[in-house]
Amino acid sequence: MGTAGLSNGAGARTAEIFEIGSAPEPGVVPQRMYASVIRPERYGSPTEAFRTELVDVPEIPPGFVLVAVMAAGINYNNAWAASGEPLDVIAARRRAGEPENFHIGGSEGSGIVWAVGDGVRSVAVGDHVLMVGARWDERATDIRFGRDPMMSDSQKTWGYELNYGSFAQYALVAEFQCLPKPANLSWEAAACFLLTAATAYRQLTRWAPNRVEPGSVVLVWGASGGLGSMACQLVDLFGGRAVAVVSGAAKAEYCLANGAVGVIDRSEFRHWGRLPEPGTAAAAEWATEVRRFGRAVWDVLGEKRSPDIVFEHPGGDTLPTSVYVCDTGGMVVLCGATSGFVGTLDLRLLWMRQKRLQGSHFANLTDCMAVVELAAMGRLDPCLGRVYPFDEVGRAHQDMVDGVHAYGNSAVLVGHRPAPAAEPAVPR
Ligand SMILES: NC(=O)c1ccc[n+]([C@@H]2O[C@H](COP(=O)([O-])OP(=O)(O)OC[C@H]3O[C@@H](n4cnc5c(N)ncnc54)[C@H](OP(=O)(O)O)[C@@H]3O)[C@@H](O)[C@H]2O)c1
Repeated sequence: MGTAGLSNGAGARTAEIFEIGSAPEPGVVPQRMYASVIRPERYGSPTEAFRTELVDVPEIPPGFVLVAVMAAGINYNNAWAASGEPLDVIAARRRAGEPENFHIGGSEGSGIVWAVGDGVRSVAVGDHVLMVGARWDERATDIRFGRDPMMSDSQKTWGYELNYGSFAQYALVAEFQCLPKPANLSWEAAACFLLTAATAYRQLTRWAPNRVEPGSVVLVWGASGGLGSMACQLVDLFGGRAVAVVSGAAKAEYCLANGAVGVIDRSEFRHWGRLPEPGTAAAAEWATEVRRFGRAVWDVLGEKRSPDIVFEHPGGDTLPTSVYVCDTGGMVVLCGATSGFVGTLDLRLLWMRQKRLQGSHFANLTDCMAVVELAAMGRLDPCLGRVYPFDEVGRAHQDMVDGVHAYGNSAVLVGHRPAPAAEPAVPR
């Protein structure tokens, strides 16, 4: 990944401050940078919590890399960080001895390697990279004994549990968090998809024997969202059949264009949330509704088939239905809980039908590289939705919380400014 003509190094520091969208020469590092910062006294809604501030550019430890961020991807985790719930990420880091009383979020992004710490060998100043949203200690005992790094006790989410994420002019990552940016993608398209695509890839491929295979039926919740748009495409690429679930008929066309075989509008059903107490009228109504939902899956498929895999992330509202509709011996694989992290389920279905409820969290480097390669080959569309200016990081998260964000994955511009539209040849 080296770039001829540029030398490695920690970078000369300059007192000059560079405006968003401009930058010094590669290798020259300013002392201060603009960052979209969360502070404890502002915990609350994203529009309140995020503010653009000037902060010190961090020092670069051995094995680490400073990346000049061109664009950053928007994910739900920093809506949680903004609220300080369920984890106060700043307090947790301070308890662990870190001095910063602020959080710079952003768990994915695209950029240019600007300066490198001692011992860095796999990337060089000037490389165009994507940044992986998790970090672990490569020397951790469990990893040395062959454990998947995502299962390591040392693993943490970068730009959430770890500071100096991509919502800043410069991000701090371990060298192994840098993957080559596909040359066919713009900075913003490259910035927006790695976290959701790699998470979806792991959910669909990692948990043998419940892997998506040719002919597999996969029920995909939130199919027009970040994870869902990636999942529908991956299911299709693997030869499976994705049944998309969305709210509102308007999203159907988008899901079908992304590889879904059919779409269910969840707003036509009423059985969401906590399972009612058995034997009550509410439980009878729930049973009627969930059977109707199951028939909607059959209608999409044109046969009485239940999903081999249920691709879960709404959590509390949908888990009872996911467990109900999942096929005997099938798997509900869950990576999030947008609608609430207390989930209920009918345990009888789990043992009598020998279903599996599997947690899945982000991705290791193999999972990440798989989706980067698919994108580089043009086989996986990053589904870039809305692109926000840097001072709207809070707005971008607020739109996600309010459910009014664009379909697919959104990004924010940091160092990159798209070329202005060409002047019309004939004055209008
Ligand atoms: N563990 C990990 O590594 C990891 C990685 C990525 C994401 N996640 C988590 O996964 C979740 C989704 O992420 P995302 O990027 O795909 O978000 P997103 O783009 O906002 O998409 C989520 C979709 O879920 C659907 N949804 C929302 N509330 C729902 C409800 N009550 N019942 C059913 N569907 C509901 C919405 O679609 P409709 O309204 O159209 O149904 C929405 O478009 C978040 O909680 C995120 O934190 C976890």
